[in-house]
Amino acid sequence: MTTTRLDLPLVIDHEDGGPLSRQLAGQLRTALREGRLLAGERLPSTRALAAGLGVSRTVVTEAYQQLYAEGWLEGRQGSGTVVADIAPCPFPMPGDHDERPPTAGGSAAGRRGSPGGAGVADDGVPRVGMVDLGPGVPWVGGLDSPAWRRAWRAASISDPVVRPEPDARPDPYGLHGLRTALAGYLRRSRGISCTVEELLVTRGATNGFDLLAATVLSPGDRVGVEEPGYRKACNVVRARGAEVVPCPVDEHGLVVDGLPGDLRLVYTTPSHQYPMGGVLPVPRRQALVAWARRTGALIVEDDYDGEFRYDVAPLPAMYGLDPAVVVYLGTTGKMLSPAVGVGWLAADPGLVGALAERRVALSDRTSVVSQEAVRELLEAGDLERHVRRMRAEYAHRRRLVVEALAGIPLRGDTAGLHLVIDLPPGRVAEVVEKAAADGIHVETLDRYYHAPTSTRALSGLVIGYAAARQTELRSACTRLREIIIG
Ligand SMILES: Cc1ncc(COP(=O)(O)O)c(C=O)c1O
Repeated sequence: MTTTRLDLPLVIDHEDGGPLSRQLAGQLRTALREGRLLAGERLPSTRALAAGLGVSRTVVTEAYQQLYAEGWLEGRQGSGTVVADIAPCPFPMPGDHDERPPTAGGSAAGRRGSPGGAGVADDGVPRVGMVDLGPGVPWVGGLDSPAWRRAWRAASISDPVVRPEPDARPDPYGLHGLRTALAGYLRRSRGISCTVEELLVTRGATNGFDLLAATVLSPGDRVGVEEPGYRKACNVVRARGAEVVPCPVDEHGLVVDGLPGDLRLVYTTPSHQYPMGGVLPVPRRQALVAWARRTGALIVEDDYDGEFRYDVAPLPAMYGLDPAVVVYLGTTGKMLSPAVGVGWLAADPGLVGALAERRVALSDRTSVVSQEAVRELLEAGDLERHVRRMRAEYAHRRRLVVEALAGIPLRGDTAGLHLVIDLPPGRVAEVVEKAAADGIHVETLDRYYHAPTSTRALSGLVIGYAAARQTELRSACTRLREIIIG
């Protein structure tokens, strides 16, 4: 193994104003991407690098943790931190903007349900009165009322300069002002550097996927969907006459080796695999992009809750790896509420043009008032403030759930708004029934499989921690533990 290297030109700019760990991670990421650090090489210890750069050890530890999480680095017994076996990539990586060049001079709803008695509805929606531990919904009680009201009030008032009368023929791409604001948001929060021409405003992630499917799929096309995965993605594929090809996932997310070569699209959730919770490491992201380039398939990156990661900073979106083969889907559904009905899609401008054209043909559009409200929230900084507050709220809830379920094997507890409890197949129905009898709604992992029962590798429950009130959440999880452990 090559010895520790201290000769990298790393320089910390204390005037920069941003987190020093992010700056350091950005510089190291560039060195890794450009192959200046090679697989198996050992990085300096946190103490040595911190001393060399004149920063605290925490700065170095956080930077290393981020790069561990992204799959660039790995820890080896007795060898410290080493560069993972990862291909250098010639194109810029998402997150590279975090770096400063070494020479720079400074630079009430907690419930859902349909009327009826206690019990679980067939559609997985809890009955009124049950504590909702189902996934898929955010904590809408956390919305900041003044900011929310301000945005919607402003959105509904016409203004000859900023907001003239609503256009009788709304722009199929979405409001230019919102797309401009979104380009900034995606750059800051998801490491995506894109132009307005790459953006189309949708009604949400699923609507964006449906529009893509309506534009590029022909009957009989084969579409890869994560198994287990987001059931509505399968509904979209089937509704367009295409064939769903279940593609296995493991604890890191989509398994790229062995993807069939004849897929037209592959739908994936790399920031936080739905529902198992894996975060796709960089080598797999690179392999997936290489696979798409080779086969001519498009990768659909559903970034439905990528803003919510608790152990390290959220991973940059995969879109930046190669916008020619990735279509990125974002939504306000988890950040704010599905009721807002605004999302976005980023893709190659040629494809965005085709989607806009198709959209006109289908009379598919996003409410202009909703678009204006989201633009207001973005421009005032309220959306990002809300996400920061919600990240703290969900991190707290996650801790609470993990504590209440102590001793039970959990998966995917570092990101998102849900986690998975492993249970032997024979116990799932019994636990769900007992929980329902106690007024607790939980979902089974079974619902996320698309292939026949015999191929299901895992069984258990998917626990959402955003819908219920905190006090209900704690007591429901405590009760769930009693039911499971006995
Ligand atoms: C993986 C995934 N994608 C998308 C969505 C929904 O997004 P939207 O409401 O914007 O269609 C969900 C909601 O639970 C989801 O789990």
